[in-house]
Amino acid sequence: MNKIYFLIVAIIFFNSCSTKKVDKADSNIETKVDSVLAMLSIDEKVGQMNQLSSFYNSDPDGLKAMIREGKVGSLLNEVNPDVVNELQRVATKESKHGIPLIIGRDVIHGFKTVFPIPLGQAASWNPALVEKSSHIAAIEARSKGVTWTFSPMIDIARDPRWGRVAEGYGEDPFLTSTLGNAAIKGYQGNNLSANDRIAACAKHFAAYGAAEAGREYNTVITSNQELRNVYLKPFQSASHTGAATFMAAFNEINGIPCSGNKKLLTDVLRNEWGFKGFVVSDWASIPEMINHGFADNETDCALIAANAGVDMEMSSHTYLDNLANLIKQGKISETVVDNAVRNILRVKFQLGLFSNPYVDTVKSSFAADSSLIIAKELALESLVLLKNENNVLPLSTKIGKVAVIGPMSNDRYEQLGTWVFDCDTNTTVTPLSAIRATIGNNKVIYAKTLAYSRDKNTGRFYQAISAARSANAVLVFVGEESILSGEAHGRAHIDLPGVQADLIKELHKSGKPIITVVMAGRPLAISNILPYSNAVIFAWHPGTMGGTAIADVLFGKENFSGKLPISIPVSAGQCPIYYAKKNTGRPADYNSWIPMDKIPVRAPQTSLGNASQHLDDGFEPLFPFGFGMSYTTFEYSNINLSSPSISVKDTLVISATITNTGKFDGYETPQLYTHDVVGSITRPVKELKAFQKIKIKSGESVNVTFKLTASDLAFYKSWNEEVVEPGLFYVWIGPSSNQGLKAQFTLQ
Ligand code: NOJ
Repeated sequence: MNKIYFLIVAIIFFNSCSTKKVDKADSNIETKVDSVLAMLSIDEKVGQMNQLSSFYNSDPDGLKAMIREGKVGSLLNEVNPDVVNELQRVATKESKHGIPLIIGRDVIHGFKTVFPIPLGQAASWNPALVEKSSHIAAIEARSKGVTWTFSPMIDIARDPRWGRVAEGYGEDPFLTSTLGNAAIKGYQGNNLSANDRIAACAKHFAAYGAAEAGREYNTVITSNQELRNVYLKPFQSASHTGAATFMAAFNEINGIPCSGNKKLLTDVLRNEWGFKGFVVSDWASIPEMINHGFADNETDCALIAANAGVDMEMSSHTYLDNLANLIKQGKISETVVDNAVRNILRVKFQLGLFSNPYVDTVKSSFAADSSLIIAKELALESLVLLKNENNVLPLSTKIGKVAVIGPMSNDRYEQLGTWVFDCDTNTTVTPLSAIRATIGNNKVIYAKTLAYSRDKNTGRFYQAISAARSANAVLVFVGEESILSGEAHGRAHIDLPGVQADLIKELHKSGKPIITVVMAGRPLAISNILPYSNAVIFAWHPGTMGGTAIADVLFGKENFSGKLPISIPVSAGQCPIYYAKKNTGRPADYNSWIPMDKIPVRAPQTSLGNASQHLDDGFEPLFPFGFGMSYTTFEYSNINLSSPSISVKDTLVISATITNTGKFDGYETPQLYTHDVVGSITRPVKELKAFQKIKIKSGESVNVTFKLTASDLAFYKSWNEEVVEPGLFYVWIGPSSNQGLKAQFTLQ
């Protein structure tokens, strides 16, 4: 390999925060922060670093007493605005220094109005909509007194056994960074003190999505390069975008728990990326360092976490119990605590809490019509059409009778997904009600058949079969209940739970068109139902307006535009599986793959099929990242590069023509991928570098243009060395990660 390496110091690209001039507002805030800090005793400083889960309902006086004594900097899980106002009154009027509280809540995909789960939002590939939905969540949450959300989750997740795959934006660092930034902008806007904005929290820092086998809270073992090039990428971007807070993850990375990881929290986040907000631990993740086997006792935990750079402790109280003594004993410098408190006070000032900590309890606008419109649009754009045999969809509204079957067809709660503490199921529109509204009550034969997704009782199958026989099309709504994904809800088998697949097989025998709609918190391995379904829609957990969005595409009022933000595996045994894999020394293809059943009995040991694959499930996912069909068809042609070769200072322009060759207008999402053919460390076979979402009318052609610069091709070859290496690159513009027009260029 005779390449020259161009070292690009990461700071040049991303650290504009630390180099940009501190503007007047910032410097005013810094002065105020310093003047508050100067008044505080050590105990009061430590109090600011303490976040408790509200126990107002069980012991209001106890909680008020702690706040009055300056022992609480933040509360989570208090969403009663009257209580919030009362506690803010105690904090600002009855505590010695009058420091307001910052109130946190898991506002993950909406507050009252529930948007699709983040993984569903990612399937929209529409940052503008993600931003709008986060803004609505902020409006609703702030009107209840919540000023801080623990969102977005920007953990790259490549193993859908992990339950929290639902909470993030999928497997790809570029897509996740783009949508994570959109969410941050939606929550925070340009002015955190506005009464429609809240502080965001980039979580879980870091690499939580790489937990072994998708087992929750588990160990992460990864290389420095993988950390930098994959898992840290969205966080670097979030810091650059100005996320007000970060959350340290539960997991360890290569033996160091994130809550005690100075390299991550201080060296990278503060010193390299110039992060100015504050870092909160995860729930009791500081004392959990004892279980990790990283600390002996809670005092050590507090010492390690504070020194590492965790500014605020969530729910546990190792800081409250130990930090002041540790300072008095000279074991930790007061500067560490001062810096943490500065970071916290800065965000409180930015939120305007010192000027007005209260909420107007009269003015709350929940599920406003305008919010429901965005919830519907985002749900619509999150729907991914995976199969549409003989264009069975869209259905005509004059189809006559349809059967609506399955546990997810009319459940106002289960279609909302994980983390919906504050949801209002009264506003949920289910598929059944939307289908009835679309074609008329008397045209719908409803047979729920299974009480819930895990129900194993086949005793009511006869109802579904009879409904199918009397109908012209069968709409089956299956999936996972909300509780089967999200925190602590990993699954070893990721197919449809219970007897839902059996139900679909039975219905298929009716000979009627079977349209399967899957609502789930993860990409389920649905290979066993594909042959028995004429059409398949992946709907994730689509939220409040999911039913309307689904009915609109089923009956052709709207077209599909969703694309997978994560590969759908054939089986759990394939996981982790993702498009940006390494080629290996023996890449598999259809020539090399010998399916297991084709191996003769007593075949002698041979090198037959000796490539990187599974004998049973092959080497490809069931559906690849970026894939999603439409009612129309798009043809890609004429890939063109502005030059066959560029220098590190040039911009390469890559374009292609996309023609809508079908009968429907539709949105297409052209994706730009590159491959660095030879690297000083091996490079993924493809990496997403850009995408657009564009409307193309039936019969119309558009020219799409992407720009690439050397910095887009940079990668970390080691922890501290980010390089752009000259040589040959392949580039694709295509409709998914495994299709597209290919060209090449060289970087000199
Ligand atoms: C634990 C979860 O890991 C985190 O994502 C969440 O924000 C906190 N609990 C607070 O509920």
